[in-house]
Amino acid sequence: MTCVVAYFKMLVITKEFDMMNYHNKNIMHIKNVTLRVRDIEKMLDFYANVIGMKILEQTANYYSLGTESGRILVKMVVDEKAEKAARKTGLFHFALLLPSRHDLGVFLNYLIAIDYPLAGASDHDVSEALYLVDPEGNGIEVYADLPNEKWKYTRDGIYMTTVAIDHVSLLEEIGDYEKIPDDTVMGHLHLRVNSINRANALFVEILGFQKSLDYGPSASFVSDGKYHHHLAYNTWNGTANPDLEDHQPGLIAYEINLPVDRENDLVESLDKSKIVYTKEIDGVRLKDINGVEITLSYL
Ligand SMILES: [Fe+2]
Repeated sequence: MTCVVAYFKMLVITKEFDMMNYHNKNIMHIKNVTLRVRDIEKMLDFYANVIGMKILEQTANYYSLGTESGRILVKMVVDEKAEKAARKTGLFHFALLLPSRHDLGVFLNYLIAIDYPLAGASDHDVSEALYLVDPEGNGIEVYADLPNEKWKYTRDGIYMTTVAIDHVSLLEEIGDYEKIPDDTVMGHLHLRVNSINRANALFVEILGFQKSLDYGPSASFVSDGKYHHHLAYNTWNGTANPDLEDHQPGLIAYEINLPVDRENDLVESLDKSKIVYTKEIDGVRLKDINGVEITLSYL
């Protein structure tokens, strides 16, 4: 009996380790996003009470939220004068990766129980995803990965598509959803841009993400360490959208984990490219092609 228990414990540990293979300090990945928000009460209610995040830091106009274990996933800067404007570059969605399909099924059952509207639900062949919109219009994906041995590849890269989710079997995953699971990470970030070429020049040629899939001419998916994607960008909303301005709610910053041994290569690439950046004790800061601040941090 002891042997059987030990075997199943080993299986669980192996599964958790697999997921963290793509979101650990040796892999470049998005760690968290910062949103400028107008109505902090509504936003806290959504992120704490619907998504189940814990408030980790709080000052007069700044909040960070994440897992009970202390992993920051979303930061908020309050600007009560912020006013929504349509068709901007910047956030398409940020994506919270749950530890397992069971967690995703429990979350779906919970959303139905509290009657929170879904904006979509898809099977992408590498993952299964639910889509929501927060009270200020920010897109959120909550997803679980299929085991990486099930991911398929074609000549063009990883095989990802969008088909209907198997909601029947997902809803069979029963459990109480009380908070976002402790092992949840920021799985990926998907941006609206005006130029795929300019995005590739920054994210692939300078920062060092690797192409995983070109989805026609209007979207690209990139990653590090052979993940299906840590970052995606599209022009599905056109190629002449203005960037987010001051006093507009939305994505104003994101933090990327930079493996410490890549700092010198990054600085060399930035110097060659003439991109303006600042080097600080904990990493490197620069603006992305939408004018959104990136912190590449190795702590
Ligand atoms: Fe996504």
